[in-house]
Amino acid sequence: MCGIVAIIGGRPVAPLIVDALKRLEYRGYDSAGVATIENGRLARRRAEGKLVNLEARLEAEPLSGTIGIGHTRWATHGVPNETNAHPHFAGDVAIVHNGIIENFAELRSELAAKGHVFSTQTDTEVVAHLVSEGISGGSSPQEAAFAALKRLEGAFAIALMFRGDEDLLIGARNGPPLAIGHGEGETYLGSDAIALSPFTNQVTYLEDGDWAVVRRDSVKICDMNGSPVERPRQTSVATSFLVDKGNHRHFMEKEIHEQPEVISHTLANYLDFANGAIRQPELPFDFATLDRLTISACGTAYLSGLVSKYWFERFARLPVDIDIASEFRYREMPLSKNSAAVFISQSGETADSLASLRYCRGEGVPIASIVNVQGSTIARESDIVFPTLAGPEIGVASTKAFTCQLSVLASLALRAARERGTIDNETERKLIRALSEAPRLASQVLRLEERFRELARELSHYKHVLYLGRDTSYPLALEGALKLKEISYIHAEGYAAGELKHGPIALIDEEMPVIVIAPHDRIFDKSVSNMQEVAARGGKIILITDATGAEKANVSTLETIVMPDVPEFVAPIVYALPVQMLAYHTAVFMGTDVDQPRNLAKSVTVE
Ligand code: G6P
Repeated sequence: MCGIVAIIGGRPVAPLIVDALKRLEYRGYDSAGVATIENGRLARRRAEGKLVNLEARLEAEPLSGTIGIGHTRWATHGVPNETNAHPHFAGDVAIVHNGIIENFAELRSELAAKGHVFSTQTDTEVVAHLVSEGISGGSSPQEAAFAALKRLEGAFAIALMFRGDEDLLIGARNGPPLAIGHGEGETYLGSDAIALSPFTNQVTYLEDGDWAVVRRDSVKICDMNGSPVERPRQTSVATSFLVDKGNHRHFMEKEIHEQPEVISHTLANYLDFANGAIRQPELPFDFATLDRLTISACGTAYLSGLVSKYWFERFARLPVDIDIASEFRYREMPLSKNSAAVFISQSGETADSLASLRYCRGEGVPIASIVNVQGSTIARESDIVFPTLAGPEIGVASTKAFTCQLSVLASLALRAARERGTIDNETERKLIRALSEAPRLASQVLRLEERFRELARELSHYKHVLYLGRDTSYPLALEGALKLKEISYIHAEGYAAGELKHGPIALIDEEMPVIVIAPHDRIFDKSVSNMQEVAARGGKIILITDATGAEKANVSTLETIVMPDVPEFVAPIVYALPVQMLAYHTAVFMGTDVDQPRNLAKSVTVE
């Protein structure tokens, strides 16, 4: 996490760095800082909290200088105060860093023994001292940086600047992404191409182990052995416009409302609705002969994968192993040669998902990914990419990326079913038709927003909420609980409704509302039994169902919200919206920072 930027140019760079940092705020927003070389000296401004605080600081005390580095932080080592905010200085060295230096404690004691004094609790400052130590020993900045980099363990992207050489930046990557931007007499480093998009669309991505010597008019990239390497220059498609909220109060609200459109775009990319056919690129594996599919992801992306397990297994009779990526990466799961792996990620940069991908790569398994950010590391390291066409998602809590992930996964499950011969032509057409209705049904659900808002007002009075669902509504129950806790800070849990009796039923009382997600489907009666168990213990039920479900539930509820009739196959896409709207409006009532909830970040590049 954390976003880093560095610019070496012919004009004052501090305002440019802040502009770039705005595009990186999704990576963390605990504190931010900028350093330049001003009149031959290292100078910096830093501020705790969001970037606006740094902007205010810079307005009061501007920074001159045509070379600079900047940072927006998601704290790992050291509390998020101004002292621990980047950039950090040691001697003539200034540094910004994204990631974790795992051996920092050992390096710190070694340097302390040599007389280095540390002013922060961060792992980053240790790197600045290590480089500075090399320079004091007579090495050039490049030699000192290279020697220091070789000693670092962990995942990092780093930018270094040196007092005494105003035509030199050094960037290094081992894990988190780092892109070099090529301008006219200006060169840039940034955590992603979006950060650099106001300045250039010509970018080169560093690969793991690479480090770059960056000057105004030249860039030299070396691998971890110090040998020069060529990395391709690409034209980035990242837009330089800062996406705005339109008429909405928050990005999350806007993104919830964009869903009918982006689901429609995404589905149309994989299905030919006019001819009722599947239209997808060639795969590096054959669904027809595959033994298993391994899916791995984090957070909300993981939950979209969990929904798809039901689809792949039910329609395509294809067994799916699905894991949270942070577990998968260390589980050393044996992978059959006849399997394929699918990674799902909005950002395409999540460290655990990427590590899982590389594990699968090492096992020789073909890799498909479903990502929203084009050109991201996960996209670049996959054999095939299925983009979600959600557009930039700014709200930290994922909404439209989730339903677009579901749209891709549903289209893939259909393809798998057809290629494995597990559905007939008529069923295939019926399921494609069902998917074609998802955008319209999502719009109908948005019209119920006022109901969800009223309900959210009620929810905001509680401290605990339980979500229940069966079958594909079970991952939605998990997603509902995740959304609610991450943005409203109300404790929430999602459970498979059938599991209620094995534990959570002990929690049921008047103080904990139970939200039941239950479209009228094959197993609706089972969900009704679970609701009766809740009602019998004085629990307050909020039922989200359709007209038939509302009629047949026959249980007293605090609220029943009647959704449009939805084909069973697309219910997870359509029923995602109520849980998003409930969380959103509850958070608004609670007065939390909806788009940038505390302690979270949108792109999680540490493990
Ligand atoms: C963070 C975000 C979530 C997201 C998860 C996985 O926790 O707040 O919204 O689902 O990371 O991120 P990815 O970019 O891999 O989908």
